[in-house]
Amino acid sequence: MADRVCPWWMGYLLASPFRRWMQNPEDVVGPFMEPGMTVLEPGPGMGFFTLPMAELVGPSGRVVAVDVQPKMLDGLRRRAAKADLLPRLDARLAQSGSLGVGDLNGKVDFVLACAVVHEMPSSEVFFREAAAALKTGGTLLLVEPAGHVDPVRFAHQINVARQAGLEQGERTVVRRCRAAVFTKKAA
Ligand SMILES: C[S@@+](CC[C@H](N)C(=O)[O-])C[C@H]1O[C@@H](n2cnc3c(N)ncnc32)[C@H](O)[C@@H]1O
Repeated sequence: MADRVCPWWMGYLLASPFRRWMQNPEDVVGPFMEPGMTVLEPGPGMGFFTLPMAELVGPSGRVVAVDVQPKMLDGLRRRAAKADLLPRLDARLAQSGSLGVGDLNGKVDFVLACAVVHEMPSSEVFFREAAAALKTGGTLLLVEPAGHVDPVRFAHQINVARQAGLEQGERTVVRRCRAAVFTKKAA
């Protein structure tokens, strides 16, 4: 069963600069990113990872950030505008049952799903949509908070990702979290 969606006001705490002391966003996503990439981020909150990723993709790249809460997206857009990163951001409102990103199929280089899959009604639908959006050879980084997602539940998410055509790759470590890296296999 999915956990409750995190309340919108938590977006401010999650995007707080203090979090950087524990989790440096550039260290977490930097190894998977290059300028010019198209990135998909489900559940961006107010952009703790989104803004650093918009910096990393540079002016020729873009970050498509999809959330179910309009107030998260408002906060995200405000913060992106302040950082002069709005032109690289495509912030979209999703329905809870689908990301609604069919227009991105085969176009995405990197998907970051941090602290969101446990809030989704169906990890099956999510991994299917994410795998469809990825280019062959594209990467998905799954990160879940260890306090919310126990090892059994995380192993289930990994199985679901594999069934969607994603191959588990290199090991990665994110503090206080469970993390796994996947690559989209050729069909
Ligand atoms: C715990 S927050 C994590 C925010 C951000 N990824 C971070 O690490 O700071 C979870 C976010 O996922 C969003 N969310 C929950 N269910 C979702 C769904 N089905 N589709 C897209 N976003 C969702 C919530 O609104 C919230 O912004």
